[in-house]
Amino acid sequence: MEEFKIEISAKQYSSLNELADNDQTLIKQALEAAQNAYAPYSEFQVGAAVLLQNGETICGNNQENAAYPSGLCAERVAMFYANAKYPESDITTLAITAIQNGEQVKIPISPCGACRQSLLESEMRFKTDIRVLMVGKNRIIEFNSISDLLPLNFSSFNLHNVGK
Ligand code: THU
Repeated sequence: MEEFKIEISAKQYSSLNELADNDQTLIKQALEAAQNAYAPYSEFQVGAAVLLQNGETICGNNQENAAYPSGLCAERVAMFYANAKYPESDITTLAITAIQNGEQVKIPISPCGACRQSLLESEMRFKTDIRVLMVGKNRIIEFNSISDLLPLNFSSFNLHNVGK
């Protein structure tokens, strides 16, 4: 038996002003997107904004459904829209935030497991790490990639190396 450690480093900010201008803009766009979420069941409005290599930004928000599992998270709405509109362009940064009871949440929003898996596909497809900005009102956490958020993941790499 051999024990090993998985280390992931992240950065933490306590104010928007500590971030670069383009990150601040992306975060503001995610917050705006959250305002347009369709979340009548959870009343938890999530907004996501993705910056693409081609300079475009695409936003998404959660879209709920009376049949709960038929809804979709903000991150996947944004990512699928981005890949549908610009299939050639990598996603470089993702910002996520949420509004609850009319206010931006304090705890930074972390993408759910299903979103992490979907976002990993984009990282693998374009061979580009996606920086993640998890945003709460006075706390922002930055991760360098989706694979950092999903250690020991299953991806196309596993399928293409079957038996090797
Ligand atoms: N949700 C997101 O859109 N993204 C996340 O990262 C976490 C959860 C949505 C799903 C559902 O509409 C609501 O937030 C409550 O879970």
